[in-house]
Amino acid sequence: MNPVSLLKNSTKSVSIEITTCCPLNCVYCERKIHNKTLSFDEFLYLKSIIKQQPLINRITFCGIGEAFLHKDFYRMLQHLSDYKITIITSGTILVDFDKLSEMENVDILIFSIDSVSREKVVDICGENYNYDNLLTNLENLKKYCKQALRKRKFVTSIINCTINKSNIEDIVNMVDFAFKYGFSGIHFSLPWGNYELVKEQHQILVEQFNKAMDKAKRYGIVMENPFNSYCCITHDHIMPYIDVNGNMYYCAYGLNKKEVLGNIKVDAFDDMKTNPIYLDYISGDKCKICDMTEFCNLERR
Ligand SMILES: C[S@@+](CC[C@H](N)C(=O)[O-])C[C@H]1O[C@@H](n2cnc3c(N)ncnc32)[C@H](O)[C@@H]1O
Ligand code: SF4
Ligand code: SF4
Repeated sequence: MNPVSLLKNSTKSVSIEITTCCPLNCVYCERKIHNKTLSFDEFLYLKSIIKQQPLINRITFCGIGEAFLHKDFYRMLQHLSDYKITIITSGTILVDFDKLSEMENVDILIFSIDSVSREKVVDICGENYNYDNLLTNLENLKKYCKQALRKRKFVTSIINCTINKSNIEDIVNMVDFAFKYGFSGIHFSLPWGNYELVKEQHQILVEQFNKAMDKAKRYGIVMENPFNSYCCITHDHIMPYIDVNGNMYYCAYGLNKKEVLGNIKVDAFDDMKTNPIYLDYISGDKCKICDMTEFCNLERR
């Protein structure tokens, strides 16, 4: 699907950043040491602002940081019982799946895993990476998904692997790893800010992705061609981001480029739609120069 046709659709989901703290230091991540955490009261205010948008029914915990580090994270999830929840995590912090099961609103879990090898994950994500915690989380994730199924609820579990120079040869093995832990999908993200690597390795990446897609198909695991898919699309709309300071961004590219549409503490959602930056996005001009489009264009050459 092409994002340009969806740019004017009303958003039904929003991604929020509750902390920029993270124990890791992934090679591709733009996280700098600027640790900031949303207080519980600030979270309640954020929730009240989101509540004013009746079409929004899903909240994604993402941004630059690790949501499971937040001391009030589970309490926040409890307060979001009216929403479906997506969580994106590195997997290095132990997850309390019993608490998640009680709440029943977390139905998409995305684990960012960059290699099947313990040593390589530490190389890519930093020495604080706790691979044992990852494996424990994955065993518990399998149980969490099965338990939900018994209640006739489907939990989508996805591996997100971000491509970097150390993990290209692991691409196909990642699919076996996804199968072993019962994941329903696997996604490979091309690294924003490292177009040169993707361009240089384009042919090898295409071969590896084709093999991985064949294998995923045999296992019944969903995998899209990373050169032909846009992760800014959620169902039929583009997902906006609100960072830990309350700044709002049109999409992942806006967040990456720090092109602020407004701040939820002072600007009304609808007023942000008159911001020239917003108009630039919905005109499709930004999509023409976005990193994601650049990657997809490599495939079309
Ligand atoms: C920024 S992290 C935040 C959540 C959590 N800390 C984690 O790593 O899952 C969200 C996702 O963005 C991915 N990511 C980070 N930097 C990236 C980059 N330069 N290009 C593509 N994906 C990136 C990460 O691999 C991760 O899957
Ligand atoms: S775990 Fe997530 S937030 Fe932390 S450094 Fe890695 S990609 Fe960035
Ligand atoms: S600018 Fe990029 S990230 Fe944003 S909607 Fe367009 S293609 Fe998606």
